[in-house]
Amino acid sequence: MTTTETPYLLGSDPDELRRLEEQAAALAPATRTILRLAGIGPGMRVLDLGTGAGDVAFEVADLVGPGGSVVGVDASAQALAWAARRTEARGVPNVSFVHADLHDVPITGPFDAVVGRLVLLYTPEPARVLRRYATLVRPGGVFVAMEYEMSAAGTLPSTPFAERLVHWLTEAFRRSGLDPLLGARLGSVFDAAGLPPAAVLGLQGYRPPGDPTGARMATGILRTLEPVLVRTGIATPEELGLDTLEERFRRHQDEGELVFRLPTLVGAWATVEEGHDD
Ligand SMILES: C[S@@+](CC[C@H](N)C(=O)[O-])C[C@H]1O[C@@H](n2cnc3c(N)ncnc32)[C@H](O)[C@@H]1O
Repeated sequence: MTTTETPYLLGSDPDELRRLEEQAAALAPATRTILRLAGIGPGMRVLDLGTGAGDVAFEVADLVGPGGSVVGVDASAQALAWAARRTEARGVPNVSFVHADLHDVPITGPFDAVVGRLVLLYTPEPARVLRRYATLVRPGGVFVAMEYEMSAAGTLPSTPFAERLVHWLTEAFRRSGLDPLLGARLGSVFDAAGLPPAAVLGLQGYRPPGDPTGARMATGILRTLEPVLVRTGIATPEELGLDTLEERFRRHQDEGELVFRLPTLVGAWATVEEGHDD
């Protein structure tokens, strides 16, 4: 396997893989809705790009049923070992994994669909990846991408505390050369890849005061990003206060009776036409 062109920002240690699983639980309704709207259904053969802990592959496996299959690809051996253990525990026979970098995948199509959630963000040229994988989709099949519009996250009403956390998050991505608004721009990425105009739709999750999701999600991602935040001077360890952040966020949300608004998950999909070439 070749290495990624730029090292993957978030890594794949067990804490990060657990964080991905928790995030996936929060994103499951939006993800399922987008996959269904894009036409993922029984009997399809699907490729899942940047499968990570396997959550999108499992959602897809549910939709395609026993007559279909899913191949998840990821550059991280740790993530794939984790995903494979989960696959076995769930007893899902139609999900398999390939260890490879997206820029050099030894896979041949055709697939009925290629999907990828929160993965184009980490590639230096998302349109190039899209163009490449569209060639593995049979004519009439579909490409589905899901990415965040991160700045939509926060509290309602908005507070300086929540705004600071979202600022830390978006700045850490920006200063790493990654686009925290990629979800909102997916239509242009599909255009640049030479695909037909995509349907682009953002789905927004909301959690009431008392729900721990916001505090856990914010603390989890900021913990993963701490080295970047500190190295690039966005925040000091003392400002982050990661040991107490989850508890402080929960209290803040409860006392202010604040609604937590998840980052928008934007889904974009387009049918791949006859003759789509690299
Ligand atoms: C944020 S995680 C998302 C995982 C999963 N798609 C989900 O939504 O839960 C991004 C995943 O993409 C993988 N990844 C990033 N860049 C990659 C590349 N160039 N080739 C293969 N996998 C890559 C990472 O290893 C990681 O598992």
